[in-house]
Amino acid sequence: MAIFLGIIFSFFILCSSSAPLPPTSEPDILLTFKDSIQDSKKSLSDWSNTTTIHYCNWTGVTCSTTYPQTVTSIYLQSFNLSGEISPLICKLSNLAHLDLANNIFNQPIPLHLSQCASLETLNLSNNLIWGTIPEQISQFSSLKVLDLSRNHIEGKIPESIGLLKNLEVLNFASNLLSGNVPTVVGNFTELKALDLSQNSFLVSEIPAGLSKLVKLEQLLLQGSGFYGEIPDIFEGLVKLSILDFSQNNLTGRLPIISQSLPKLLSFDVSQNKLSGSFPIGICGNKIMVSLSLHTNFLNGTIPNESINECINLEKFQVQNNMFSGNFPSWFWTLPKLKLIRAENNRLSGEIPDSISKAIELEQVQIDNNSFSSRLPNGLGQLRNLYRFSASQNGLYGELPQSICDSPVMSIINLSHNFLSGEIPAFKNCRKLVSLSLADNSLVGKIPESLSELPVLTYIDLSHNNLTGLIPPQLQNLKLALFNVSFNDLSGRVPLPLVSGLPASYLEGNPNLCGPGLPHACLDDTSLGHKKAGLSKFTAVVITLTLAVTLMMILAAVYMKRCSSKEGRIGEGIWRSVFFYPLRITECDLIMSMNEKSALGNQATFGRVYRVRLPSGELVAVKRIENFTTQSPKIIKSELKTLAKIRHKNIIKILGFCHSDESIFLIYEYIVKGSLGDVINQSDSQLPWNVRLNIAIGIAQGLAYLHKDYVPHLLHRNLKSTNILLDADFVPKITDFALDRVVGEGSFESTMATDNPSSSCYIAPEHSYSKKPTEEMDTYSFGVILLELVTGRKAESNETEGSLDVVKWVRRKVNISNGVLRVIDPNIPNNCHQEMLGALEIALHCTSVVPEKRPSMSDVVRGLQSLNSRTSPPNLQLSYHDDSSVPV
Ligand SMILES: *[C@@H]1O[C@H](CO)[C@@H](O)[C@H](O)[C@H]1NC(C)=O
Ligand SMILES: *[C@@H]1O[C@H](CO)[C@@H](O)[C@H](O)[C@H]1NC(C)=O
Ligand SMILES: *[C@@H]1O[C@H](CO)[C@@H](O)[C@H](O)[C@H]1NC(C)=O
Ligand SMILES: *[C@@H]1O[C@H](CO)[C@@H](O)[C@H](O)[C@H]1NC(C)=O
Ligand SMILES: *[C@@H]1O[C@H](CO)[C@@H](O)[C@H](O)[C@H]1NC(C)=O
Ligand SMILES: *[C@@H]1O[C@H](CO)[C@@H](O)[C@H](O)[C@H]1NC(C)=O
Ligand SMILES: *[C@@H]1O[C@H](CO)[C@@H](O)[C@H](O)[C@H]1NC(C)=O
Ligand SMILES: *[C@@H]1O[C@H](CO)[C@@H](O)[C@H](O)[C@H]1NC(C)=O
Ligand SMILES: *[C@@H]1O[C@H](CO)[C@@H](O)[C@H](O)[C@H]1NC(C)=O
Repeated sequence: MAIFLGIIFSFFILCSSSAPLPPTSEPDILLTFKDSIQDSKKSLSDWSNTTTIHYCNWTGVTCSTTYPQTVTSIYLQSFNLSGEISPLICKLSNLAHLDLANNIFNQPIPLHLSQCASLETLNLSNNLIWGTIPEQISQFSSLKVLDLSRNHIEGKIPESIGLLKNLEVLNFASNLLSGNVPTVVGNFTELKALDLSQNSFLVSEIPAGLSKLVKLEQLLLQGSGFYGEIPDIFEGLVKLSILDFSQNNLTGRLPIISQSLPKLLSFDVSQNKLSGSFPIGICGNKIMVSLSLHTNFLNGTIPNESINECINLEKFQVQNNMFSGNFPSWFWTLPKLKLIRAENNRLSGEIPDSISKAIELEQVQIDNNSFSSRLPNGLGQLRNLYRFSASQNGLYGELPQSICDSPVMSIINLSHNFLSGEIPAFKNCRKLVSLSLADNSLVGKIPESLSELPVLTYIDLSHNNLTGLIPPQLQNLKLALFNVSFNDLSGRVPLPLVSGLPASYLEGNPNLCGPGLPHACLDDTSLGHKKAGLSKFTAVVITLTLAVTLMMILAAVYMKRCSSKEGRIGEGIWRSVFFYPLRITECDLIMSMNEKSALGNQATFGRVYRVRLPSGELVAVKRIENFTTQSPKIIKSELKTLAKIRHKNIIKILGFCHSDESIFLIYEYIVKGSLGDVINQSDSQLPWNVRLNIAIGIAQGLAYLHKDYVPHLLHRNLKSTNILLDADFVPKITDFALDRVVGEGSFESTMATDNPSSSCYIAPEHSYSKKPTEEMDTYSFGVILLELVTGRKAESNETEGSLDVVKWVRRKVNISNGVLRVIDPNIPNNCHQEMLGALEIALHCTSVVPEKRPSMSDVVRGLQSLNSRTSPPNLQLSYHDDSSVPV
């Protein structure tokens, strides 16, 4: 508190003592403005009285085009500027636009800028502005655009803000505002955009006054604390184009809307507690009478008009509410609609064949509702459809032949419905990744054509009435899931499908046979036809004898192949590259990889085994299987790239061998196991200085991969179990850049199916951004750093209400004195200062906004400076720019 007051105090002193000789000419004003700014990157070096550049051409400065030229706009985004925003800038009498977004100005809202008589735009988005919104905000009477989003502004929105009658854009998104939103927002009659999203401390009803904002185009209130019913605000909002009320606590029904919203592009009320019948009316009053809707449709007049009212709608999201009633059929035909998300409601209705008119449709998710419908043939005509997910509904009838006609279709989920008939041949959807038809009444055979879909990875056909053989061709797919349990399949199961998958995926098919299954196949014994005549006992003896013989023969063949000169094992040819005198054959490796030598449980991309070399040395061998989408040539060159890395914090790859089926990566063996294991053992307390050094080591290794090694590499799977500790607790990063070895497709699908508990290391943008980035690694590092600071495991444990470490910390640090409660209580007080510094870095690294995360080399510097830090860390106690993290 004392520090806080100190900052305010010194700020006022600065303010009141800075006006000796007011400059008068415009360049002088600009130079004085620059003097009060810290410009660490020298971005404003051309702002100078010694250059020949006219000041109107200085960086970021724009002048009027008419004579005499005067400065009208200053635009200095993303220059890492800090210091003071001097009120002298208001001496520029025609200054209309001041944009200082994406800098690091650390101060309260600069009220003194209200002296700028012509100021229309003030953009201070994404700085470190703190404090409350003062009553005097009303002095900015000329402002049209006020953007203070992504700062640390707290407290209530004052009533006086209603005096800013000229406002067209008001953006307070991602701050720490609290309390009630005053009704005076209804006074902003010129307002086009209102953004109060991501202010999780707001506790407010949606002000009814919003209905007066006839010019409003964007209304963004998502992820804040809005509760209660949505008032009748839509009446007047004829220009509304984007509405987002998602992730609030809204209840009750959607209001009846008697005026249409013809401009509406996006409607999102997902993740609330809304109920009532379907939000009829957002597109026009004609279909207001929800009960007669279906009849109206048949009448043939009203739907066309309704469609016209909603003709521009692109995104419709009402998922995770309690909506009920009929989902109007015409909705499925809207020509611009791209996204329908309505899962987890109680909606009913039919999906009409005319869905083919919704030619832009990309994604449909209506799982867990009461839709009762056949699947329309028209689906096949939607060329952009990549996801159709309608599990847990009352869908019936046969699967249309066209179900897989969209060339981009990648996810089909129709499980838990009442579908009947046979599974059609799947030929056209070459991008299909996941097919779930579980728990229906499908009959007939599993189509062989599935085996020709190159990226098909998940197949769930369990709980149907499928018969016939499992097509042997399916073993060509790289399946991560193949569940056919509880059907009536028969015959031999292709061996690779038995060995790689849990037995439970085959159970409930009494007529399946093969090794590993309750029944051996009859033709395996070649005595099958005689069996009936033999006594049970004899049959058992014979079978056993045969099995043993067979195993011996197999073993002999295996050994033989193993030791033969060409280096053949099983089917594939082995190629080895050693960077270290290993003196070991592939065969030795395979022989020594068994349950006993396995380290830990299944790791991502394959298990790790401890192998003793003939020389007595230990190595760790990672066995990566079934990733043969890459050509051997590429695999080899990528492995070489990885193996050449030499850094003290990155595990050494001593060599590798690979066949068509497997890759063995031979690593140096590290004694202490993984950091994750150490954190998980509650009894092992690492002292703080050891933890800090571990953090610095990891950061250095990662910075090396990102910036120093050529080619630059991304880790992409950083977590505490992928950090190994040597005898001196020096951390070694392992499992890096495996995407390059197994190929992007396999990598993504494996990551997606990996133990979900490690998902808390994955940056939130991963879900929507396909492109991997350094920032995503930084996020994962931040999670590890939080583990080190708090002594908690990253993932939440099973118990109800427990949180992963990121959410847990974020919850605590925003309570006063909360920071002291998150650091590991087992570490003595004298380390707390350093720990708080590390916490600050970890919170930056785990920022939800990727651009806010520091680079790894900045992190290294930051962590190293903690050791020597004497003054208290300048902790921003709140990080609520990230309040989009769901609590
Ligand atoms: C330029 O500005 C500096 C300080 O800002 C001042 O000392 C110097 O006299 C100025 N030079 C000219 C030519 O105006
Ligand atoms: C600014 O630069 C442009 C082109 O570089 C030039 O045409 C213009 O005259 C300059 N403006 C002034 C006021 O010097
Ligand atoms: C940004 O500014 C701060 C404070 O002025 C400085 O410590 C930091 O090094 C700067 N960052 C860059 C990338 O210039
Ligand atoms: C303010 O600047 C940010 C950052 O560039 C930008 O995203 C935002 O649109 C700007 N605000 C307005 C109202 O233009
Ligand atoms: C808002 O407008 C109403 C009338 O429209 C007026 O009575 C009230 O004073 C205004 N509030 C503010 C804070 O300007
Ligand atoms: C929603 O309301 C419940 C109870 O009324 C409260 O516990 C919860 O924190 C609220 N959630 C949000 C996001 O405001
Ligand atoms: C069908 O449309 C006619 C007018 O075209 C209207 O009078 C009638 O009420 C409509 N029927 C229903 C069931 O809505
Ligand atoms: C409704 O639209 C269909 C085709 O979209 C058209 O055939 C029909 O005539 C239209 N009906 C009215 C009343 O406009
Ligand atoms: C599917 O199998 C179950 C049990 O064998 C049977 O009761 C049911 O009638 C079958 N359904 C169809 C559609 O064949």
